[in-house]
Amino acid sequence: MKQFAPASALLAALALLLSACGGAAGNGPSPDALVARGEKLYEEKTCAGCHAVDGSTLVGPTWKGLYRSEVKLADGTSTTADEAYLRESMLDPSAKTVEGFPSGLMETVIKPGMLSEEEVDGLIAYIKSLR
Ligand code: HEC
Repeated sequence: MKQFAPASALLAALALLLSACGGAAGNGPSPDALVARGEKLYEEKTCAGCHAVDGSTLVGPTWKGLYRSEVKLADGTSTTADEAYLRESMLDPSAKTVEGFPSGLMETVIKPGMLSEEEVDGLIAYIKSLR
């Protein structure tokens, strides 16, 4: 028992240190950190190859001004690009198709469930920042 004491003391100190770091702004990463994470993932996960962030149309729709905008869908309905819609578009890319864009194309690269919840949170924060 005795020889484990230093190790557990070290662990306790580490836990304290970690909780102290995250403690200042409440739980989870700060909004700015999420946006930065999303911007990085936008490049890393190749979203950048199909989505522009400056308003121009590439293979897919631009992300500029996307959040809370009205999106026309290929089935003739329309929807508001809220968090739930953005989340679904990332986790299950073929669930809905934006009018005028090829259906199923995004899914050839971004497979359903490929992105983690944490990655989706970052990407949504990034899209929200693109006004
Ligand atoms: C191979 C090209 C391609 C890649 C790579 C790609 N997308 Fe897409 N994406 C599309 C196309 C095309 C659409 C529009 C058709 C549709 O709704 O499926 C789209 C639609 C979307 C939409 C809905 C946009 C809107 O205007 O309503 C979101 C959100 C989205 N993609 C997020 C992402 C994210 C996040 C990534 C990277 C992890 C990504 N996409 C990577 C092609 C791509």
